[in-house]
Amino acid sequence: MSNAKKKKIKIPYGRQWIDDKDIKAVTKVLKGGWLTQGPNIEKFEKAVAKYCGAKYAVAVSSGTAALHSAYKVAGIESGDEVIVTPLTFAATCNMLVSCGAKPVFVDIEPDTLNINSEEIEKKVTGKTKAIVTVDFAGHPCDYDKIKEIAKKNKLLIIEDACHALGAEYRGKKVGSFADMTILSFHPVKHITTGEGGMVLTDNKEFYDKLKILRNHGIIKKPENGKWYYEIENPGYNYRITDIQCALGQSQLKKISGFLKRRRDIAMIYNKAFKNITEMILPTEKEYAKSAWHLYPIQVRGIDRRKVFERLQEDGIGVQVHYMPLHLHPFYQKTFGYKKGDFPKAEKYYNGAMSLPLFPKMVNKDIERVIRSVKMALIKTV
Ligand SMILES: Cc1ncc(COP(=O)(O)O)c(C=O)c1O
Repeated sequence: MSNAKKKKIKIPYGRQWIDDKDIKAVTKVLKGGWLTQGPNIEKFEKAVAKYCGAKYAVAVSSGTAALHSAYKVAGIESGDEVIVTPLTFAATCNMLVSCGAKPVFVDIEPDTLNINSEEIEKKVTGKTKAIVTVDFAGHPCDYDKIKEIAKKNKLLIIEDACHALGAEYRGKKVGSFADMTILSFHPVKHITTGEGGMVLTDNKEFYDKLKILRNHGIIKKPENGKWYYEIENPGYNYRITDIQCALGQSQLKKISGFLKRRRDIAMIYNKAFKNITEMILPTEKEYAKSAWHLYPIQVRGIDRRKVFERLQEDGIGVQVHYMPLHLHPFYQKTFGYKKGDFPKAEKYYNGAMSLPLFPKMVNKDIERVIRSVKMALIKTV
Protein backbone atom coordinates (compact mmCIF):
# COMPACT_ATOMS: atom_id res chain seq x y z
CA MET A 1 0.00 0.00 0.00
CA SER A 2 1.39 3.43 -0.90
CA ASN A 3 2.03 5.99 1.81
CA ALA A 4 -0.75 8.16 0.43
CA LYS A 5 -3.24 5.28 0.79
CA LYS A 6 -2.26 4.69 4.42
CA LYS A 7 -3.03 8.31 5.39
CA LYS A 8 -5.93 8.74 7.81
CA ILE A 9 -8.69 11.26 7.17
CA LYS A 10 -7.60 14.36 9.03
CA ILE A 11 -10.18 16.97 8.03
CA PRO A 12 -13.73 15.57 8.15
CA TYR A 13 -16.53 17.20 6.13
CA GLY A 14 -18.20 18.34 9.34
CA ARG A 15 -17.77 18.18 13.08
CA GLN A 16 -19.00 19.70 16.31
CA TRP A 17 -17.59 22.56 18.36
CA ILE A 18 -17.71 21.76 22.08
CA ASP A 19 -16.12 24.11 24.59
CA ASP A 20 -15.81 24.36 28.39
CA LYS A 21 -19.11 26.23 28.69
CA ASP A 22 -20.90 23.30 27.02
CA ILE A 23 -19.18 20.82 29.32
CA LYS A 24 -20.10 22.91 32.36
CA ALA A 25 -23.74 23.09 31.27
CA VAL A 26 -23.93 19.31 30.84
CA THR A 27 -22.09 18.58 34.07
CA LYS A 28 -24.53 20.77 35.99
CA VAL A 29 -27.42 18.61 34.82
CA LEU A 30 -25.54 15.39 35.60
CA LYS A 31 -25.03 16.61 39.17
CA GLY A 32 -28.71 17.50 39.54
CA GLY A 33 -31.87 15.45 39.91
CA TRP A 34 -33.31 15.39 36.36
CA LEU A 35 -31.67 13.47 33.57
CA THR A 36 -34.66 13.22 31.26
CA GLN A 37 -37.82 15.33 31.00
CA GLY A 38 -36.47 18.09 33.24
CA PRO A 39 -36.69 21.89 33.03
CA ASN A 40 -33.99 22.25 30.37
CA ILE A 41 -36.20 20.77 27.68
CA GLU A 42 -38.74 23.57 27.73
CA LYS A 43 -36.00 26.17 28.13
CA PHE A 44 -34.25 24.84 25.02
CA GLU A 45 -37.53 24.67 23.10
CA LYS A 46 -38.38 28.27 24.00
CA ALA A 47 -34.88 29.49 23.10
CA VAL A 48 -34.91 27.85 19.64
CA ALA A 49 -38.50 28.95 18.96
CA LYS A 50 -37.58 32.55 19.82
CA TYR A 51 -34.43 32.45 17.70
CA CYS A 52 -36.35 31.12 14.68
CA GLY A 53 -39.45 33.26 15.14
CA ALA A 54 -41.81 30.32 15.73
CA LYS A 55 -44.55 30.20 18.37
CA TYR A 56 -43.98 26.63 19.57
CA ALA A 57 -41.21 24.04 19.57
CA VAL A 58 -41.11 20.38 20.55
CA ALA A 59 -37.68 18.82 21.06
CA VAL A 60 -37.31 15.11 20.29
CA SER A 61 -34.58 12.48 20.12
CA SER A 62 -33.47 13.09 16.50
CA GLY A 63 -34.27 14.94 13.29
CA THR A 64 -35.69 11.66 12.00
CA ALA A 65 -38.04 11.43 15.01
CA ALA A 66 -39.02 15.05 14.39
CA LEU A 67 -39.89 14.28 10.75
CA HIS A 68 -41.88 11.19 11.71
CA SER A 69 -43.76 13.09 14.43
CA ALA A 70 -44.57 16.00 12.10
CA TYR A 71 -45.86 13.65 9.39
CA LYS A 72 -47.98 11.81 11.96
CA VAL A 73 -49.64 14.91 13.40
CA ALA A 74 -50.17 16.26 9.87
CA GLY A 75 -52.31 13.15 9.38
CA ILE A 76 -50.13 11.71 6.60
CA GLU A 77 -51.18 8.11 6.19
CA SER A 78 -51.59 5.18 3.87
CA GLY A 79 -52.82 6.23 0.41
CA ASP A 80 -51.54 9.79 0.67
CA GLU A 81 -49.08 11.34 -1.73
CA VAL A 82 -46.48 13.84 -0.61
CA ILE A 83 -44.49 16.03 -2.99
CA VAL A 84 -40.79 16.09 -2.15
CA THR A 85 -37.32 16.48 -3.64
CA PRO A 86 -35.32 13.35 -4.48
CA LEU A 87 -32.14 15.16 -3.39
CA THR A 88 -32.23 14.71 0.37
CA PHE A 89 -31.08 12.45 3.15
CA ALA A 90 -33.03 9.21 3.30
CA ALA A 91 -34.82 10.14 6.56
CA THR A 92 -36.98 12.77 4.80
CA CYS A 93 -38.68 10.10 2.69
CA ASN A 94 -38.15 6.99 4.80
CA MET A 95 -40.41 8.56 7.41
CA LEU A 96 -43.07 9.27 4.77
CA VAL A 97 -42.91 5.61 3.83
CA SER A 98 -43.23 4.68 7.53
CA CYS A 99 -46.53 6.59 7.53
CA GLY A 100 -47.68 4.61 4.48
CA ALA A 101 -47.45 7.57 2.08
CA LYS A 102 -45.96 7.72 -1.41
CA PRO A 103 -43.16 10.23 -1.97
CA VAL A 104 -43.90 11.97 -5.28
CA PHE A 105 -40.60 13.38 -6.45
CA VAL A 106 -40.13 16.68 -8.25
CA ASP A 107 -36.75 17.43 -9.84
CA ILE A 108 -34.39 20.08 -8.47
CA GLU A 109 -33.34 23.54 -9.60
CA PRO A 110 -29.79 23.13 -10.90
CA ASP A 111 -28.51 26.24 -9.11
CA THR A 112 -30.00 26.11 -5.60
CA LEU A 113 -30.29 22.29 -5.69
CA ASN A 114 -33.71 22.70 -4.02
CA ILE A 115 -37.05 21.41 -5.27
CA ASN A 116 -38.10 23.23 -8.45
CA SER A 117 -41.21 25.12 -7.34
CA GLU A 118 -42.29 25.63 -10.99
CA GLU A 119 -42.73 21.86 -11.32
CA ILE A 120 -44.64 21.20 -8.08
CA GLU A 121 -48.15 21.98 -9.24
CA LYS A 122 -47.98 19.49 -12.13
CA LYS A 123 -47.63 16.69 -9.58
CA VAL A 124 -50.61 17.64 -7.39
CA THR A 125 -53.42 15.05 -7.47
CA GLY A 126 -56.49 14.40 -5.35
CA LYS A 127 -54.30 12.27 -3.08
CA THR A 128 -51.68 14.93 -2.37
CA LYS A 129 -51.57 15.87 1.30
CA ALA A 130 -48.43 17.92 1.69
CA ILE A 131 -45.30 19.41 0.18
CA VAL A 132 -42.10 18.54 2.02
CA THR A 133 -39.34 21.02 1.26
CA VAL A 134 -35.66 20.52 2.04
CA ASP A 135 -33.39 23.56 2.35
CA PHE A 136 -30.49 21.78 0.72
CA ALA A 137 -27.01 22.54 2.13
CA GLY A 138 -28.60 25.38 4.14
CA HIS A 139 -30.09 27.35 1.22
CA PRO A 140 -33.82 28.07 1.78
CA CYS A 141 -36.32 27.10 -0.89
CA ASP A 142 -38.40 29.78 -2.63
CA TYR A 143 -41.15 29.91 -0.01
CA ASP A 144 -43.30 32.68 -1.54
CA LYS A 145 -43.95 30.46 -4.55
CA ILE A 146 -44.31 27.25 -2.57
CA LYS A 147 -46.75 28.84 -0.12
CA GLU A 148 -48.86 30.12 -2.99
CA ILE A 149 -49.13 26.61 -4.48
CA ALA A 150 -49.88 25.09 -1.06
CA LYS A 151 -52.62 27.64 -0.36
CA LYS A 152 -54.24 27.21 -3.76
CA ASN A 153 -54.28 23.42 -3.47
CA LYS A 154 -54.96 23.26 0.31
CA LEU A 155 -51.72 21.43 1.07
CA LEU A 156 -49.59 21.49 4.18
CA ILE A 157 -45.94 22.52 3.96
CA ILE A 158 -43.48 20.61 6.10
CA GLU A 159 -40.00 22.04 5.87
CA ASP A 160 -37.03 19.78 6.47
CA ALA A 161 -34.64 22.46 7.69
CA CYS A 162 -32.14 19.98 9.11
CA HIS A 163 -29.48 21.77 7.01
CA ALA A 164 -30.77 25.25 7.60
CA LEU A 165 -30.95 26.44 11.22
CA GLY A 166 -30.24 30.17 11.07
CA ALA A 167 -30.78 30.48 7.30
CA GLU A 168 -32.88 33.39 6.06
CA TYR A 169 -35.45 33.80 3.31
CA ARG A 170 -36.19 37.41 2.36
CA GLY A 171 -34.69 38.58 5.64
CA LYS A 172 -36.68 36.20 7.86
CA LYS A 173 -35.25 33.18 9.63
CA VAL A 174 -36.23 29.66 8.66
CA GLY A 175 -38.83 28.41 11.14
CA SER A 176 -41.93 30.42 10.33
CA PHE A 177 -42.60 29.68 6.64
CA ALA A 178 -44.00 26.17 6.84
CA ASP A 179 -46.80 24.59 8.87
CA MET A 180 -44.06 22.65 10.63
CA THR A 181 -40.28 23.05 10.40
CA ILE A 182 -37.86 20.25 11.27
CA LEU A 183 -34.41 20.66 12.78
CA SER A 184 -31.61 18.20 13.56
CA PHE A 185 -28.95 18.59 16.22
CA HIS A 186 -26.62 15.87 14.97
CA PRO A 187 -22.94 16.80 15.55
CA VAL A 188 -22.35 17.90 11.95
CA LYS A 189 -25.24 20.37 12.11
CA HIS A 190 -25.14 24.04 13.16
CA ILE A 191 -25.61 23.29 16.85
CA THR A 192 -25.55 19.87 18.49
CA THR A 193 -27.14 17.95 21.33
CA GLY A 194 -25.30 14.74 20.42
CA GLU A 195 -28.43 13.35 18.80
CA GLY A 196 -31.59 15.43 18.78
CA GLY A 197 -34.21 17.15 16.72
CA MET A 198 -37.09 19.60 16.92
CA VAL A 199 -40.39 20.51 15.31
CA LEU A 200 -41.27 24.21 15.12
CA THR A 201 -44.83 25.33 14.49
CA ASP A 202 -47.24 28.21 14.99
CA ASN A 203 -50.14 25.77 15.18
CA LYS A 204 -51.30 25.04 18.75
CA GLU A 205 -53.12 21.87 17.75
CA PHE A 206 -49.98 20.42 16.11
CA TYR A 207 -47.95 21.49 19.14
CA ASP A 208 -50.22 19.71 21.62
CA LYS A 209 -50.30 16.55 19.50
CA LEU A 210 -46.53 16.53 19.04
CA LYS A 211 -45.96 16.60 22.79
CA ILE A 212 -48.34 13.68 23.33
CA LEU A 213 -46.83 11.65 20.47
CA ARG A 214 -43.31 12.16 21.88
CA ASN A 215 -44.32 10.32 25.03
CA HIS A 216 -46.15 7.16 23.88
CA GLY A 217 -49.44 8.95 23.22
CA ILE A 218 -50.02 9.36 26.95
CA ILE A 219 -52.71 11.90 27.94
CA LYS A 220 -52.78 12.53 31.67
CA LYS A 221 -56.20 12.94 33.27
CA PRO A 222 -55.54 13.75 36.95
CA GLU A 223 -59.23 14.36 37.55
CA ASN A 224 -59.52 10.54 37.50
CA GLY A 225 -56.61 10.08 39.92
CA LYS A 226 -53.04 11.31 39.96
CA TRP A 227 -51.80 8.09 38.29
CA TYR A 228 -54.44 8.10 35.57
CA TYR A 229 -53.75 8.47 31.88
CA GLU A 230 -55.32 7.40 28.63
CA ILE A 231 -53.99 6.64 25.17
CA GLU A 232 -56.13 7.74 22.24
CA ASN A 233 -53.43 7.24 19.62
CA PRO A 234 -50.28 5.22 20.27
CA GLY A 235 -47.10 7.30 20.23
CA TYR A 236 -43.39 6.66 20.66
CA ASN A 237 -40.55 7.24 23.03
CA TYR A 238 -39.10 10.17 21.08
CA ARG A 239 -38.08 12.00 24.27
CA ILE A 240 -34.88 14.00 24.40
CA THR A 241 -32.96 14.26 27.67
CA ASP A 242 -32.38 17.20 29.98
CA ILE A 243 -28.64 16.62 29.51
CA GLN A 244 -28.96 17.11 25.75
CA CYS A 245 -31.12 20.20 26.13
CA ALA A 246 -28.62 21.83 28.50
CA LEU A 247 -25.99 21.28 25.82
CA GLY A 248 -28.39 22.64 23.19
CA GLN A 249 -28.96 25.88 25.11
CA SER A 250 -25.25 26.39 25.57
CA GLN A 251 -24.65 25.71 21.85
CA LEU A 252 -27.42 28.07 20.76
CA LYS A 253 -25.64 30.95 22.51
CA LYS A 254 -22.81 30.50 20.00
CA ILE A 255 -24.88 30.19 16.84
CA SER A 256 -24.18 33.58 15.31
CA GLY A 257 -20.42 32.93 15.53
CA PHE A 258 -20.90 29.45 14.06
CA LEU A 259 -22.93 30.80 11.15
CA LYS A 260 -20.46 33.58 10.47
CA ARG A 261 -17.50 31.21 10.40
CA ARG A 262 -19.36 28.83 8.06
CA ARG A 263 -20.13 31.75 5.71
CA ASP A 264 -16.54 33.02 5.85
CA ILE A 265 -15.18 29.58 4.92
CA ALA A 266 -17.67 29.29 2.04
CA MET A 267 -16.60 32.71 0.74
CA ILE A 268 -12.92 31.71 0.91
CA TYR A 269 -13.73 28.57 -1.12
CA ASN A 270 -15.76 30.65 -3.60
CA LYS A 271 -12.83 32.96 -4.20
CA ALA A 272 -10.26 30.17 -4.42
CA PHE A 273 -12.21 28.07 -6.92
CA LYS A 274 -14.01 30.71 -8.98
CA ASN A 275 -11.89 30.34 -12.12
CA ILE A 276 -11.67 26.55 -12.19
CA THR A 277 -13.69 25.38 -15.17
CA GLU A 278 -13.89 21.78 -13.93
CA MET A 279 -15.85 22.90 -10.84
CA ILE A 280 -19.42 24.13 -10.41
CA LEU A 281 -19.73 25.99 -7.12
CA PRO A 282 -22.79 26.36 -4.88
CA THR A 283 -24.85 29.51 -5.40
CA GLU A 284 -26.79 31.80 -3.10
CA LYS A 285 -29.89 33.52 -4.52
CA GLU A 286 -30.63 37.18 -3.82
CA TYR A 287 -33.64 36.15 -1.68
CA ALA A 288 -31.60 33.83 0.52
CA LYS A 289 -28.98 33.83 3.20
CA SER A 290 -27.68 30.29 3.36
CA ALA A 291 -26.74 28.70 6.66
CA TRP A 292 -23.89 26.93 4.76
CA HIS A 293 -24.33 23.51 6.30
CA LEU A 294 -22.50 22.04 3.30
CA TYR A 295 -20.27 23.29 0.52
CA PRO A 296 -21.45 21.03 -2.32
CA ILE A 297 -19.35 21.32 -5.46
CA GLN A 298 -19.82 19.50 -8.75
CA VAL A 299 -16.89 18.42 -10.87
CA ARG A 300 -17.52 18.37 -14.61
CA GLY A 301 -15.77 16.78 -17.56
CA ILE A 302 -13.62 14.79 -15.17
CA ASP A 303 -13.90 11.54 -13.20
CA ARG A 304 -15.60 12.36 -9.87
CA ARG A 305 -14.67 9.04 -8.32
CA LYS A 306 -10.96 9.59 -8.97
CA VAL A 307 -11.06 13.13 -7.55
CA PHE A 308 -13.00 11.89 -4.51
CA GLU A 309 -10.58 9.05 -3.84
CA ARG A 310 -7.53 11.27 -4.30
CA LEU A 311 -8.92 13.74 -1.77
CA GLN A 312 -9.72 11.01 0.73
CA GLU A 313 -6.22 9.60 0.33
CA ASP A 314 -4.89 13.09 0.97
CA GLY A 315 -6.74 13.29 4.29
CA ILE A 316 -9.63 15.45 3.07
CA GLY A 317 -12.93 13.98 4.29
CA VAL A 318 -15.10 14.72 1.29
CA GLN A 319 -18.61 13.22 1.18
CA VAL A 320 -21.38 12.92 -1.39
CA HIS A 321 -24.71 14.47 -0.39
CA TYR A 322 -26.64 12.57 -1.74
CA MET A 323 -27.44 9.84 -4.20
CA PRO A 324 -30.98 10.91 -5.21
CA LEU A 325 -33.56 8.74 -3.49
CA HIS A 326 -35.22 7.51 -6.70
CA LEU A 327 -31.98 5.67 -7.51
CA HIS A 328 -32.16 3.52 -4.36
CA PRO A 329 -33.46 -0.05 -4.87
CA PHE A 330 -36.25 0.36 -2.30
CA TYR A 331 -37.75 3.45 -3.99
CA GLN A 332 -37.43 1.81 -7.41
CA LYS A 333 -39.07 -1.48 -6.50
CA THR A 334 -41.75 0.06 -4.27
CA PHE A 335 -42.78 3.07 -6.34
CA GLY A 336 -41.49 2.24 -9.84
CA TYR A 337 -38.95 5.07 -10.05
CA LYS A 338 -36.02 4.53 -12.38
CA LYS A 339 -32.77 6.07 -13.53
CA GLY A 340 -33.47 9.00 -15.83
CA ASP A 341 -36.65 10.13 -14.03
CA PHE A 342 -35.06 13.23 -12.45
CA PRO A 343 -32.20 14.24 -14.76
CA LYS A 344 -31.20 17.42 -12.93
CA ALA A 345 -30.78 15.64 -9.59
CA GLU A 346 -28.86 12.87 -11.36
CA LYS A 347 -26.60 15.32 -13.18
CA TYR A 348 -25.80 17.00 -9.88
CA TYR A 349 -25.15 13.64 -8.21
CA ASN A 350 -22.77 12.49 -10.95
CA GLY A 351 -20.35 15.30 -10.15
CA ALA A 352 -21.23 15.96 -6.50
CA MET A 353 -18.87 16.24 -3.60
CA SER A 354 -19.11 18.19 -0.35
CA LEU A 355 -15.91 19.80 0.89
CA PRO A 356 -15.14 20.10 4.61
CA LEU A 357 -17.05 22.97 6.22
CA PHE A 358 -17.39 23.47 9.96
CA PRO A 359 -16.62 26.38 12.30
CA LYS A 360 -13.69 24.68 14.03
CA MET A 361 -11.72 24.64 10.75
CA VAL A 362 -8.72 26.92 11.08
CA ASN A 363 -7.25 28.85 8.16
CA LYS A 364 -4.53 26.22 7.74
CA ASP A 365 -7.23 23.54 7.27
CA ILE A 366 -9.01 25.66 4.66
CA GLU A 367 -5.79 26.28 2.77
CA ARG A 368 -5.01 22.57 2.88
CA VAL A 369 -8.41 21.68 1.43
CA ILE A 370 -7.98 24.24 -1.36
CA ARG A 371 -4.50 22.97 -2.19
CA SER A 372 -5.63 19.34 -2.19
CA VAL A 373 -8.66 20.03 -4.37
CA LYS A 374 -6.57 21.90 -6.94
CA MET A 375 -3.96 19.12 -6.92
CA ALA A 376 -6.57 16.36 -7.23
CA LEU A 377 -8.11 18.13 -10.21
CA ILE A 378 -4.75 18.60 -11.94
CA LYS A 379 -3.89 14.93 -11.42
CA THR A 380 -7.27 13.79 -12.72
CA VAL A 381 -7.72 16.03 -15.79
C1 LIG B 1 -32.02 16.73 5.26
C2 LIG B 1 -32.00 15.87 6.49
N1 LIG B 1 -33.16 15.44 6.99
C3 LIG B 1 -33.21 14.68 8.10
C4 LIG B 1 -32.07 14.28 8.76
C5 LIG B 1 -32.18 13.38 9.95
O1 LIG B 1 -31.67 13.97 11.11
P1 LIG B 1 -31.11 13.07 12.30
O2 LIG B 1 -29.77 12.55 11.88
O3 LIG B 1 -31.00 14.03 13.45
O4 LIG B 1 -32.08 12.00 12.55
C6 LIG B 1 -30.82 14.70 8.27
C7 LIG B 1 -29.60 14.29 8.95
O5 LIG B 1 -28.53 14.26 8.44
C8 LIG B 1 -30.79 15.51 7.10
O6 LIG B 1 -29.62 15.93 6.59
